[in-house]
Amino acid sequence: MKKILLLNGPNLNRLGKREPDIYGIKTLEDIEQELSQVVKTHHGTLQAYQSNHEGELIDFIHQSDGEYDGIIFNPGAYTHTSIALRDAISSIAVPVIEVHISNVHQRESFRHTSLLAPVCQGQIVGLGIKGYELAALAFLQED
Ligand code: DQA
Repeated sequence: MKKILLLNGPNLNRLGKREPDIYGIKTLEDIEQELSQVVKTHHGTLQAYQSNHEGELIDFIHQSDGEYDGIIFNPGAYTHTSIALRDAISSIAVPVIEVHISNVHQRESFRHTSLLAPVCQGQIVGLGIKGYELAALAFLQED
């Protein structure tokens, strides 16, 4: 049975209210529940956390080492700024898939760079909340 961690970074607790034209109308709770069902269907387990604090996200990443088979991570704006999160990902053996709901490449130039992508297994952008599910399937179906 695969254990998956879903980690969402800053402002993603505002999903459903936040810029719905870009991020849609579903709440983070909706997304977590739906993803949990998908993972269950594939005989896995899902644990979900959200934090607006860089240090707390780093702690979650450290604590995940040896505990999970894969991490689905939407780091929000820290994607574009955080060397500390990159170093945290590099410090663990668990593979990470970076997910962005919006197509960051169609948006402001400061969103075009990910400091984290080079240390992630893969990256899914611009497919809406479906990206979370696709990341989960990638972990659940590999072998
Ligand atoms: C985001 C894209 C980031 O640039 C932004 O700061 C977010 C959300 C996305 O899911 O599209 O907070 O990660």
